[in-house]
Amino acid sequence: MDDIMYLVTGATGIIGRPLVEALLSEGVEVRAVTRSPEAAAFPAGVEAVAPEAIRSALRGVHALFVHPRAAKDDTDELMRLAAEAGVPKLVVMSAINVDDDLDHQPSRCNGDRNAEVERAVIDSGLPWVAVRPTSFAMNTLGMWRGQLTFGDTVRGPYGGFAEAVIHERDVAELIARALLDDSLLGRKIAITGPEALRLDAMVPILGAAIGRPLHFQEVPPEMAAQGMIRNGLDERFVHTLLARYHRELNRPATVTTEIESILGHPARTFATWCADHATAWA
Ligand SMILES: NC(=O)c1ccc[n+]([C@@H]2O[C@H](COP(=O)([O-])OP(=O)(O)OC[C@H]3O[C@@H](n4cnc5c(N)ncnc54)[C@H](OP(=O)(O)O)[C@@H]3O)[C@@H](O)[C@H]2O)c1
Repeated sequence: MDDIMYLVTGATGIIGRPLVEALLSEGVEVRAVTRSPEAAAFPAGVEAVAPEAIRSALRGVHALFVHPRAAKDDTDELMRLAAEAGVPKLVVMSAINVDDDLDHQPSRCNGDRNAEVERAVIDSGLPWVAVRPTSFAMNTLGMWRGQLTFGDTVRGPYGGFAEAVIHERDVAELIARALLDDSLLGRKIAITGPEALRLDAMVPILGAAIGRPLHFQEVPPEMAAQGMIRNGLDERFVHTLLARYHRELNRPATVTTEIESILGHPARTFATWCADHATAWA
């Protein structure tokens, strides 16, 4: 019998690595696309593929995961090659805010094109599933780790802004399920963590996980923006992000139950994410 083969783009990334692991744990074969096949250090048995070799890598695959950052400018060509190879199913990741006004999506300022990639997959004519995660819990590392090397205080704006951040393993497991199981075909699935948490409540949860008395101190948005830009963040990104916090301040955040209903276990909490990544804050 032929191997049951899945092709994963963006395979070395935040979602890609746990997705490769989730697929392997189901006993299927994985081809993993990376611009650096020699350095990728995938688990044993995974076939590392350079983007230039994607045409032959698509042959015989049961489903393709389209990562929006890795596929971005090449999505139309990828769709053409997938159709030519007769790939039976595409699973694309986008984001929970993908239908929002494009000017309200901070990730676009950093070059992401989630809406266009998702649209290209849906319009490909091949069977598809779209997975739309909320903000990754992993973002807190980028937002707070620098400050926490100097003390126990996170200074930031809009402490009352709340969202139900998601563990990357839940995103990866959901994508793996969509790749493996045809019952999700044609769905746009919005996924979140289990509960909405304010920024000023998340910081002490992190502190409890890493054994430090962490707290959040609110600073005015303009002061925070200047600091973020001084630290190298794109100016338009910073203003779009803070405008989003301002718009959504004190609004109930979206919380969905798709992780539990599809995967059969509750979405992992932010406390679990903190414990899983405790060493990253050292
Ligand atoms: N962060 C969030 O809160 C959040 C929430 C929802 C949706 N999203 C969306 O999810 C995507 C990010 O996912 P992620 O964190 O898994 O991505 P990531 O880890 O930054 O990137 C995944 C992989 O894509 C490849 N890659 C990165 N930049 C590339 C480029 N310019 N051209 C070609 N390949 C590139 C890299 O692999 P190689 O170097 O090995 O080739 C990288 O390991 C974005 O589209 C973002 O908007 C993010």
